[in-house]
Amino acid sequence: MRITKQSTDYQVYRILSDRQSSGEEIGKKLGITRSAVWKTVNKMKESGVKIESSGKGYVLIGKNELNPYEIADITFKRLGDHIDEIIYFETTDSTNEKAKEYGKPRTLIFAESQTAGKGRLGRRWESQKGGLYFTLSLDPKLDYTEMPKVTLIAGLSVAEALPEAKIKWPNDVLIRGKKVCGILSELYGEIESPLIVVGIGINVSNPIPDELKDYAASVSDFYSVGRREIFDSVLANFGKYYKKLLEGKWRDLRENFVNRCDTIGKIVKITTSAEEIVGVAEDIGDDGSLIVNGRRVYAGDCIHLRNYRFT
Ligand code: BTN
Repeated sequence: MRITKQSTDYQVYRILSDRQSSGEEIGKKLGITRSAVWKTVNKMKESGVKIESSGKGYVLIGKNELNPYEIADITFKRLGDHIDEIIYFETTDSTNEKAKEYGKPRTLIFAESQTAGKGRLGRRWESQKGGLYFTLSLDPKLDYTEMPKVTLIAGLSVAEALPEAKIKWPNDVLIRGKKVCGILSELYGEIESPLIVVGIGINVSNPIPDELKDYAASVSDFYSVGRREIFDSVLANFGKYYKKLLEGKWRDLRENFVNRCDTIGKIVKITTSAEEIVGVAEDIGDDGSLIVNGRRVYAGDCIHLRNYRFT
């Protein structure tokens, strides 16, 4: 299901989120007939939106549920300068794959569940119903070398949306040492003007398979917070940080990132495609790298070994 800022059904949703309205009132506002309003309302109900008809008109109930129109509303409110369209799936293979196939930036792809969710380093991402799985397809007009920072601010945006959450460099989000969110960014398009898809998976209340329970968890294992609230605050944070990044204010963002990052001060083992690096994670560089024993590391799988005592 596709929703743009101009879609009639989205406009009807906006009117009803504001207040109960009759078919005639809605029709007048949008310049369509009452019967067109009725058809639109039925289509919305079929997609799971709860709308009741009373003598005085249509009433939207269950406003706090994350239905496709609410997803669109939050997205346009928080990221309206960068996203024009949302594509919503009950289920799909992978929102990152869908975003690349669609090939159009300024889009958010959302799925309630994924059958082939992709993790980093070719791993699989468990994506059962109850979590948040979405991909931002963006055209940041940044140099190739700046792109990893988009991923870093995505991790920061999630971590700041979840009480107690910390970042394990580069962009895993952990609560009390357990991973609750992973981010997979992929670049595609031309090297001179690359496009990026940023795929975010958050375990909110989806079941975690037994074999992953030692190092992964759902947010609901720690406290109770709704998917709508998390989605809204992640997008609000991302909107704010993405704007700063495009304005060239990485310095401020770096500071926020360092404050949330649990990796600094730890002895880490980083596995890159070429080697394994073991050392003290000292700082985050002005280029977004992790500084390990004085050396800049740009990508890799990071394991925290133990705390290091700075003297
Ligand atoms: C990781 O390995 O930590 C990254 C996991 C990224 C999962 C998200 S869920 C939404 C998007 N679609 C995918 O197939 N993967 C990302």
